[in-house]
Amino acid sequence: MTNIALQTIYGQIIYQDSLEYMREQVKDESIDLIFTSPPFALLRKKDYGNVEEDRYVEWFETFAEQFFRILKPTGSLVIDIGGSWIPGQPTRSLYHFELLIMLCRKMQFHLAQEFYWWNPSKLPTPAEWVNVRRIRVKDAVNCIFWLSKTPWPKVSNRRVLTPYSDSMLDLLENGYDAKLRPSGHDISDKFQRDNGGAIPPNLLPFPNTESNSYYLRYCREHDIKPHPARFPARLPEFFIRMLTDIGDTVLDPFAGSCVTGEVCERLKRRWICCEIVPEYVEGAKGRFSLDRKENDVPTDPGHYKIYSPVTLWGDVENDELLSEDGGKQRSVHTCDAKLRSNVHNAQNGHTDLDTVEPPTTQLILLSPS
Ligand SMILES: C[S@@+](CC[C@H](N)C(=O)[O-])C[C@H]1O[C@@H](n2cnc3c(N)ncnc32)[C@H](O)[C@@H]1O
Repeated sequence: MTNIALQTIYGQIIYQDSLEYMREQVKDESIDLIFTSPPFALLRKKDYGNVEEDRYVEWFETFAEQFFRILKPTGSLVIDIGGSWIPGQPTRSLYHFELLIMLCRKMQFHLAQEFYWWNPSKLPTPAEWVNVRRIRVKDAVNCIFWLSKTPWPKVSNRRVLTPYSDSMLDLLENGYDAKLRPSGHDISDKFQRDNGGAIPPNLLPFPNTESNSYYLRYCREHDIKPHPARFPARLPEFFIRMLTDIGDTVLDPFAGSCVTGEVCERLKRRWICCEIVPEYVEGAKGRFSLDRKENDVPTDPGHYKIYSPVTLWGDVENDELLSEDGGKQRSVHTCDAKLRSNVHNAQNGHTDLDTVEPPTTQLILLSPS
């Protein structure tokens, strides 16, 4: 039996197993967008019942059959999924790639595009490989698979433009000498048209640093444990804006704290959020509390500076020797004084180009929403 935990102007929180709900309640070809972050296959089990890695694809398949059935032909399925590490060794599981292969090869979804959600505030984990043995780098992206039933889901990238960079603004104002680029591309004067913003890349820089939101305050005041794996509102917002119109229907079958529902309510999309853990449902209700007067204001800077790792590279003679065992045995290395000073300088924004070669390459990434 369907348990509607909350009804709003645009949507519902359903306290039920979403597989059961879809089978019993959702009509064929009735949903415009399924946006979700399923429980990931993790090494350490979290308290909301993550599925073990080797059973993951099989477990997901039953959900995928329903997703295909209920999506409109113009609809999209967007899955946010994090990778995981093989227990006890510094190599990665392939489970999320196997999931993607199953969805496309077996379920006949099309991979419209893969995105990467970069969380600039992600901690360097697993600490043993990244911080202690220094044999892997920080894993700071989740894969976002955008899938569709046909190669032509409805979409417009005009909905998710980023601000133009300073150099593009300069070009729009002062013009450009049309010529061939080193790549052979002909930069003609059509690049001088102001389209209201730049087309974003498929790398989405959204920090996950919520600390004083209405949701968290509501949970604190009502003695509810906040959901431990929330995504930032900008993530569903990007796809909801790009892939749906006002009045369209969005489903999040693994809704957690119902961020998807909150964003839909604000964007005037109909929504259904299913969640099976009662405490998460109780917290999610707070997002739609009648006492709530305003929406949260995003606190992130809206753009990020990414240093090229090249910034700190010096003479090859100064490199410490690589360990032949690939870091199998723990060993202690000290960071040499020159490197330490270069790190300090780079962090403070004044890189000494005499001591650091090749020169700094920077990329400024603007947040799309
Ligand atoms: C990664 S969390 C989603 C978090 C959410 N995106 C947010 O920002 O709050 C996955 C959620 O799926 C829920 N879940 C797992 N299996 C489910 C099922 N069969 N039906 C409904 N919810 C389920 C879990 O309880 C968990 O809260």
